[in-house]
Amino acid sequence: MKLFKTLLEHEGPVSDFAIGYAESSRFANSSIGYPDLDKLQKNDGVKPEWFYDVRDRGDASEMVAIHQYVDNSSEFEEYVDLALGVGIVEMIHLDRLTDVIMALGGSVKRHWSNKAQVFGKDVKDAVGNDIKAEKQAIKDYTQLLKKLEPIKTNTGIACHALVKKLLADEEHHLKLLDQFQKTLS
Ligand SMILES: [Fe+2]
Ligand SMILES: [Fe+2]
Repeated sequence: MKLFKTLLEHEGPVSDFAIGYAESSRFANSSIGYPDLDKLQKNDGVKPEWFYDVRDRGDASEMVAIHQYVDNSSEFEEYVDLALGVGIVEMIHLDRLTDVIMALGGSVKRHWSNKAQVFGKDVKDAVGNDIKAEKQAIKDYTQLLKKLEPIKTNTGIACHALVKKLLADEEHHLKLLDQFQKTLS
């Protein structure tokens, strides 16, 4: 795959490469970028636990989305590019949320379950499930954004900017999936 060949030739942090890939692809909303997370501080108005559910909650989270997109890309040939492309963006979302949790003194040592992951019986069904999951993500990030809004510390402002970016990507995914669903008979 071209992506992996490029990765082999890449020097520097893999996360920089992945973000560069995603932001230059059609699978992310590149009009909003990722904020700098280097200056996040513990006890600066934001709790790491606020990000646990969106990272790995069993019924809907970045972790579940990644698995659902990867499985759907394997099952349905016509869905390979879109599901995998979006899935890679979800992986970056997970990585950024993980950085926030760790920087704020939290832990990602959580047992998560994919019991609630839904498997589509055909491609249309699979895309429908992914649309539902994107809508849930939009709901979750909208709530989190409201919670972060009044926190005007450096940490609060950076976390708010990150969630705004994640929300913009999920809205973009919903648009891409809606468009793709219309092409299916
Ligand atoms: Fe996501
Ligand atoms: Fe998404």
